[in-house]
Amino acid sequence: MPITIKNPIEQEKMRLAGRLTADVLDMIGPHVQPGVTTLELDQICHDFIVGQQQAIPAPLNYRGFPKSICTSINHVVCHGIPGDKKLRTGDMINIDITIIKDSYHGDSSRIFFVGKPTVQAERLARVSHDALWLGIQAVRPGARLGDIGHCIQSFAEAERFSVVREYCGHGIGRSFHEDPQVLHYGKANSGIELVEGMTFTIEPMLNAGKRHVKLLKDGWTVVTKDHSLSAQWEHTILVTHDSYEVLTLGAAERP
Ligand code: MF3
Ligand code: CO
Ligand code: CO
Repeated sequence: MPITIKNPIEQEKMRLAGRLTADVLDMIGPHVQPGVTTLELDQICHDFIVGQQQAIPAPLNYRGFPKSICTSINHVVCHGIPGDKKLRTGDMINIDITIIKDSYHGDSSRIFFVGKPTVQAERLARVSHDALWLGIQAVRPGARLGDIGHCIQSFAEAERFSVVREYCGHGIGRSFHEDPQVLHYGKANSGIELVEGMTFTIEPMLNAGKRHVKLLKDGWTVVTKDHSLSAQWEHTILVTHDSYEVLTLGAAERP
């Protein structure tokens, strides 16, 4: 997949897709409660995306993925498949939403706590969120991809968490995953230069233990090898003439 530069009309379509993606996350938040299953969360999101938004849940049947959203609990790093397991007080869950509206994709994920979080979960979630925003703030025309990864990695490791290497952010537009790959580690002043009109995700995964992951036999679920806690947040970003625009801000965060 090549890098695509979006013209103003395409940027407007990316804005709409991004806003709808954030709306799904805003909608599902209050449903994250002890006793609810991730399958129920999937069904609620599916119905909202298809019925209210007249949009398409991009994960459904994407390379054989069986559900409409990804739900990754505790030591699951990413790509958890919704199922009949009930959420329990103290769980931490990442819900990752990707929708297609008018042929353009929006992609965002957030951490939600089920009841009161543990001290470690709260800190990992906060540091992961801060790491995402440090990466976002490195975005402007003329900056380079490595600057984003460097900001995230140096901050995360100073906080004594590790950064997952096997999965990365990605260009996004008419396709779910376009070039470039947006690594969450790396060297400042390296990699391709950012250009106005690029759209890509930043979606760092931080582990409380070692960075290594393994793929479960279902072919999708990624977990930490040492079973330590993992957290992820994701936004879709547009490179503007002088900085960045976050296309997937929740209603409460919009200017
Ligand atoms: N939304 C994920 C991402 O941020 C990709 C999920 S692929 C799926 O790139 F097939 F698992 F949905
Ligand atoms: Co993504
Ligand atoms: Co995503």
